[in-house]
Amino acid sequence: MKPANTYTEHLVSLSRSKLLRAISDRGCPQGRTIRIGETQLLNFASNDYLGLAANAVVIDAASRAMLEFGLGAGASRLLSGGCTLHGELERRVAAFKGSAAALVFNSGYTANVSAIPALATNKGAIFSDELNHASIVDGCRLSGAERFVYRHGSLSHLAELLQASHKTLKLVVTESVFSMDGDIVDIRGIHKLCKTHNALLYIDDAHATGVLAGGRGSPAHFNIQPDENVIQMGTFSKALGSMGGFVAASETIIEYLVNRARGLMYSTALPAPIIAASLAAINHIETNPEVVVTLHANIGNCKRLLLLRGIHVPDAPTAIVPIYVETVAEAMRISEHLLTRGIYAPAIRPPTVKQPRIRISLSTLHSDEDIERLSASLSEAIGCQ
Ligand SMILES: Cc1ncc(COP(=O)(O)O)c(C=O)c1O
Repeated sequence: MKPANTYTEHLVSLSRSKLLRAISDRGCPQGRTIRIGETQLLNFASNDYLGLAANAVVIDAASRAMLEFGLGAGASRLLSGGCTLHGELERRVAAFKGSAAALVFNSGYTANVSAIPALATNKGAIFSDELNHASIVDGCRLSGAERFVYRHGSLSHLAELLQASHKTLKLVVTESVFSMDGDIVDIRGIHKLCKTHNALLYIDDAHATGVLAGGRGSPAHFNIQPDENVIQMGTFSKALGSMGGFVAASETIIEYLVNRARGLMYSTALPAPIIAASLAAINHIETNPEVVVTLHANIGNCKRLLLLRGIHVPDAPTAIVPIYVETVAEAMRISEHLLTRGIYAPAIRPPTVKQPRIRISLSTLHSDEDIERLSASLSEAIGCQ
């Protein structure tokens, strides 16, 4: 059989099970509404939770940086590909996250697949939540470390596994706000367990940064002062509206990552305009705290309206609202119905998640009318009152 046939067969099989994915590119900036093809849609699919991806102040900062530093970075940070803005952003992130130091990566994905293997080494043991993001799973696989998967958010299972391990280097890895369920795990409890078992705690704060605790993320939300054993990973690509990932940790860990994180060492640095945009986004949140307050008002409003219509939603104060359904076909049907009502909220299917769902993501930019329209269209699609 020709190699190409293997792929064709695979695509046909995906299509039959309604699992075929296709790219839908926008013809406009990311925002409250987006245009796909000729259609203008109300956007409930973006992780741009604070509406900063097309914010005028952020764009202005990026434009000015482009004029000063140019576009392409030309080399890895270790070969002067970075500019002074990179260091400035790292100091800013460290202060924002309450850590001693920070390091910027080209994406959140790169941060996880670079930092986790470097930290765990092939001699350590990693303890990973069963619902962790694909980038964490890939980072764990790349590490060569012994790997243990614990039940989602289960402190008792995690404690059991930590207790049974005789490794001296233990790394517990978890998201704080889970990207597909929008729930928040008990970071305080996990932190306590890590202390008891002398383990490092690696928190993926991708969906907590810009959202929890005025934007500072999960340690601040749980009132935890990050010590030398707490590593916070996050992204600039979601609530901060830009691009890139970061790790905030002790100075020793950051210096170690500069020397061992392959995604930093062997990849060209992010362009200066992107770095300037991330800096401007953090400034914006700190000087305009009401953007986060508005997001939470929208989250509360959306959940209240959905519950009133008999649609069950988890009650965590996060911008991700999953509507679980039984089958892929049902998820696709609801998403297609929403499209007919001018609403973009795609179905999330295996292998991204086991249980199909509609994943609604909320933004500061949504109005009360937008949220009312979403809840009415959803209840119409699901067949609630
Ligand atoms: C929990 C989590 N971690 C990491 C990433 C990767 O971040 P980025 O999109 O910046 O590569 C994502 C993005 O989907 C995510 O949801």
